[in-house]
Amino acid sequence: MNHAAVPELERVLFSEEQIESRIRELAAEIDRDYQGRPLKLIGVLKGSVFFLTALARHIETPLKIDFLGISSFSDKSGSPGVVRIAKDLDESIEGEDVLLVEDIVDTGFTLRYLLQNLAGRAPNSLSVCTFLDRRSRRIVQTPIKYRCFEIPDRFVVGFGLDYQQLYRNLGYVAVLKPERS
Ligand code: IMP
Ligand code: MG
Repeated sequence: MNHAAVPELERVLFSEEQIESRIRELAAEIDRDYQGRPLKLIGVLKGSVFFLTALARHIETPLKIDFLGISSFSDKSGSPGVVRIAKDLDESIEGEDVLLVEDIVDTGFTLRYLLQNLAGRAPNSLSVCTFLDRRSRRIVQTPIKYRCFEIPDRFVVGFGLDYQQLYRNLGYVAVLKPERS
């Protein structure tokens, strides 16, 4: 979809071509690091699905894929970071080399929760690969091994990222007009 056809968008941050070429680089880096050791990619529903499938198609290391779904909400004081698993993995990750694939890491609360939870299941290794990193808003420091792009402090949509469940199917990443977010 052409972004000029979506009036709620302010500008494109990363084009389809930029995303594709960066994902190829990342896949090559992952192949170098794992040296043929089978990988388990774990995607966090729903935002990471587009990134995970694009990445997986360029990784040559043998891999399996699983997903988990989370719901996050603010507590009564309005502080973020209350996360719960709404759909668990289908299979055990014990002894496996796990790469957790996220759409975006913002404050880091979601990622911290997921890492603590997955680490408790005794994987052989556990690393993080995120499509977007908004480092300027980080509250909880979390280890990110692979990132596609760092982004400014603006709300973005596309390539899996949503605003009220819309725009996930855009092939590019765009900044939403401020009055929308
Ligand atoms: P964190 O716990 O603050 O790191 O939350 C990250 C989660 O917030 C992501 O997994 C997204 O679901 C959501 N999120 C944060 N920023 C954006 C954005 O710019 N667009 C769409 N979703 C976002
Ligand atoms: Mg998410």
